[in-house]
Amino acid sequence: MSKFEESRWTNSEFSQNYRDEANIYLPFRREFIETTKSLYAYFFAAKSDNNVLDLGCGDGLFIEELLKTFSPKSITLVDGSNEMLEAAQKRLGKRANINFIQASFQSLFSDELLNSNYNFIYSSLAIHHLPLEEKKLLYSYIYKLLSPGGCFVHYDVVAPVSTKIENWFLSLWHQWIKEHPNKTMSENLLEIPDQYKKNTDNRPDTLGSQLQALTQIGFKEVDCFFKHGIFSLFGGFK
Ligand SMILES: C[S@@+](CC[C@H](N)C(=O)[O-])C[C@H]1O[C@@H](n2cnc3c(N)ncnc32)[C@H](O)[C@@H]1O
Repeated sequence: MSKFEESRWTNSEFSQNYRDEANIYLPFRREFIETTKSLYAYFFAAKSDNNVLDLGCGDGLFIEELLKTFSPKSITLVDGSNEMLEAAQKRLGKRANINFIQASFQSLFSDELLNSNYNFIYSSLAIHHLPLEEKKLLYSYIYKLLSPGGCFVHYDVVAPVSTKIENWFLSLWHQWIKEHPNKTMSENLLEIPDQYKKNTDNRPDTLGSQLQALTQIGFKEVDCFFKHGIFSLFGGFK
C-alpha cells in the first residue's frame, strides 16, 4: 500500500505553494467546478437531506463554491494533511453541519471512519496519487459509502493514451499557463507541467481504465462530463 506520509503533501512549502498558485496553473478550474455544481443542481438540489463528502478537500475551495448556491444537510471534508484541513476550516468557518476528518485514503479502507450514506461524493486532484489497484479499492469503498441514486464525481488528471498525445496535452497545459492574464505569476509557473510529469508522487491512469473500473464496481451512467488535456471530470451513479 502506498503511504500518504511519504508524499509531498506533508511538505508545508509544497502545500502552501499549491494554495497560492493553483488558480493560475489549473486550466479551466472554474469550469470544472461549475460543471460539477450543474450536476449537483440537476440531480440533487431539489432534495433537502443531501449528505456530501469531499475526499482530498485541500483548502475547501469546492465546498465553499457549493455552499454559495446549495444547502446540503451535512458536509464531510477528508484530507491527509492537517495543514490543508486547517486552511479549509479557516475558509469555511465553524458550522454545525460541517465535519473535518484528517485521514489518508489508505487508512479509510481499514479504519471505517466514514459510516454515513452519502448522496454526493466529490474528489479533485487527489486520487491520482494512488496506483491503479488502490484507486480501485477507493472507488469500491466510495460505492459502498453512496446511498442508492447517489453520485461520485471525480475531477483529476489522467494518463494520456500514448506518449504522442501526452506531449500534446503537456504543451496545451504549458500554453494555457503562458496565456494567463497574470503574467508575473504565470511566468514563474511555466515549469509546472514538466514538474508534474517528473514527480513520482503522481500516478495517473488512463480515463478509459478508470471508467472501466467504475463500471466493473457497479456504478451506472459512468461517463466523462468535461475534459481538457489531462484534466478530466468523470464519475457515475449508484
Ligand atoms: C492537489 S490538492 C487538491 C485539493 C483540492 N481537492 C482542490 O481541488 O484544490 C491534493 C489534496 O489531496 C490530499 N491528498 C493527497 N493524497 C492523499 C491521500 N492519500 N489521502 C488523503 N489525502 C490526500 C493532499 O493533502 C491535498 O490536500
